[in-house]
Amino acid sequence: MPITTIAELLQKAKHVVVFTGAGASAESGIPTFRDALTGLWENFDASKLATAEAFHADPSLCWGWYEWRRRKVIQAQPNEAHRAIAQLANHVPKLTVITQNVDDLHERAGSSAVIHLHGSLHSPRCVDCGAAHQSPLPSEPLPEAGIRIEPPRCTRCNGYVRPGVIWFGEMLADEAWTNAMAAAKECDFFLSIGTSGVVYPAAELPFAALANHAKVVHINPVRFAISRQDFFIQGTAASSMKSLVEEAFL
Ligand code: OAD
Repeated sequence: MPITTIAELLQKAKHVVVFTGAGASAESGIPTFRDALTGLWENFDASKLATAEAFHADPSLCWGWYEWRRRKVIQAQPNEAHRAIAQLANHVPKLTVITQNVDDLHERAGSSAVIHLHGSLHSPRCVDCGAAHQSPLPSEPLPEAGIRIEPPRCTRCNGYVRPGVIWFGEMLADEAWTNAMAAAKECDFFLSIGTSGVVYPAAELPFAALANHAKVVHINPVRFAISRQDFFIQGTAASSMKSLVEEAFL
């Protein structure tokens, strides 16, 4: 379907949900997880890094890997996709931004009340007592991934500080998930950008929107199978989102 037709549907929408995955931040220089050759899980083993067991087995390896990513995000800038999404809020009656990303690039582009389903690299907390880690962390980039860095200690109980992300095997935060599902069910236009749609429960959201008769549009440079009711824009997040918002509203 041509982008002009999708733009016309967007113009009529009353509540738009934007749902982003790692592909939305790819053009800011943040690696995705599952892309061949460049994806993080191509070169690193998720089970050795992104689980509570991995952290307990080797806290310094796990913390060092998340520190590499956090510092990469600090150096990165929002791209056209983040900016177009922020701009969209000025043109539609209601916009809910839901992200699986643990960076803050939506916020830095101007989006507010972003629902972070998988937590944030920027909210470390104690692995034992859960207290938020308040002291500032270094921001200098690390030369490479895989450098061991011992995590800081909690000032309350001396436990290790862990990244504020959701690991495999952990539940999503109740409030984030409830609000995301409510928005997916309520919206009439659901825009899924740069996600492989394989990590649940997040991947349920487009199906919930579709079941409630929203128009569901996927943006991805790599075509994948969709239902007959869904729409697909084949392209990168930055160029597709810029074109879509310009076509619909400018
Ligand atoms: P993936 O790495 O699984 O998928 C990234 C998607 O982005 C793929 O479909 C790519 O084709 C697409 N892509 C790549 N470059 C793009 C670009 N420039 N513009 C648009 N799309 C592009 O990332 P997610 O779907 O976000 O979870 O992964 C979901 C979850 O798995 C992550 O939140 C993370 C991970 O393990 C946790 O850490 C809990």
